[in-house]
Amino acid sequence: MQRRQFLTLSAATAATPLLSSCGGEPEEFPVNKKPGFPDSGFGADSTAEDVTEGLDLSGKNVLITGCNSGIGLETMRVLAMRGAHVIGTGRTLAKASAACDSVAGKTTPVELELTDFESILNCAETVKALDLPLDMLICNAGISGRLDKQVVNGVELAFQVNYLGHFLLVNKLLPQVEAAKSARIVHVSSRAAYTRPLAAGIRFDSLGEGNGGVEYDSWEYYGQSKLANALFSLKLASKYAGTNVTSNSLHPGFVKTNIARGQGWLLETAFDILGPLITKNVEEGSATTCYAAAHPEMNGISGQFLSDANVVSVGGDHHLENHALADELWDYSERLLTKYLG
Ligand SMILES: NC(=O)c1ccc[n+]([C@@H]2O[C@H](COP(=O)([O-])OP(=O)(O)OC[C@H]3O[C@@H](n4cnc5c(N)ncnc54)[C@H](OP(=O)(O)O)[C@@H]3O)[C@@H](O)[C@H]2O)c1
Repeated sequence: MQRRQFLTLSAATAATPLLSSCGGEPEEFPVNKKPGFPDSGFGADSTAEDVTEGLDLSGKNVLITGCNSGIGLETMRVLAMRGAHVIGTGRTLAKASAACDSVAGKTTPVELELTDFESILNCAETVKALDLPLDMLICNAGISGRLDKQVVNGVELAFQVNYLGHFLLVNKLLPQVEAAKSARIVHVSSRAAYTRPLAAGIRFDSLGEGNGGVEYDSWEYYGQSKLANALFSLKLASKYAGTNVTSNSLHPGFVKTNIARGQGWLLETAFDILGPLITKNVEEGSATTCYAAAHPEMNGISGQFLSDANVVSVGGDHHLENHALADELWDYSERLLTKYLG
């Protein structure tokens, strides 16, 4: 077997869990446009520019986490191009500044390291000091599961970065969100939220140093963190029902970005080789975020899950609309962060 064939075969094998988490259409979870909601007319190959065409976002303030790479960078570029002021966060100020400088329009770089609660508090203070209402708050930054379980601040790493750090940031910025005439909180979740979480949805006893008897599987832990994104959105939507604030979560598609970093060389190679053939590009992969954050059809729509720039219903056995679990998650997070929530 040629080296290239071997690599392609290995890549395809390695990519299987990634595909079942992020791409493909498994029969047990049928995804359809949700009746009673607008059919946007957009689809999997629509781009962020397509879904925002003709929009004038001048006067709007957006905060997006993880602005220096992949979906975050393209979302920032397009929203700024449409006239919004985008506050873009990066793990260092240098990264955020370089990303902000790389796009046209009004942007403000801010440092945010989601594994570090002090950094999150500093970021919130910096944003507060700008004294601006936040019309769109986009929780985008994220990592895939790591090969071995890593724990930071007593919590599994993907759960901390993808969800818990955002929980603290959003809670700290709610006064700025509430101050907007009409505000949208958008959570970049994943289809892994329903295809790959643990059977119980979230196993709170698996999150710390102990694993509660749960064997570590990086994709299940990724799915658990992405389900947490969706449940956080559901809970915020309930809390803000009937107000000027909406909250929705989404699957961006299977997108060729840097998301496979940390998954080991085989999967990273798989992503490099197969990515261009089977994934959305970042222009397409940012469409659902931009649609949820900025499209007029989404006015007043809250507590929903989106895919391919449409509100969708997801069939099958999953926890996306499990309000009891969303309540439990909120209480668990508040208990963990009492010291920081103040
Ligand atoms: N790509 C896909 O197929 C796919 C599918 C479903 C869902 N998603 C979700 O889409 C979102 C965006 O990911 P992407 O695909 O655009 O991947 P990406 O290119 O790797 O971008 C991830 C962003 O998150 C930032 N980030 C990572 N760890 C962080 C931390 N500890 N603190 C603060 N920021 C951190 C990264 O900063 P650095 O560059 O400095 O590390 C980067 O800006 C993620 O939430 C991901 O779970 C992606």
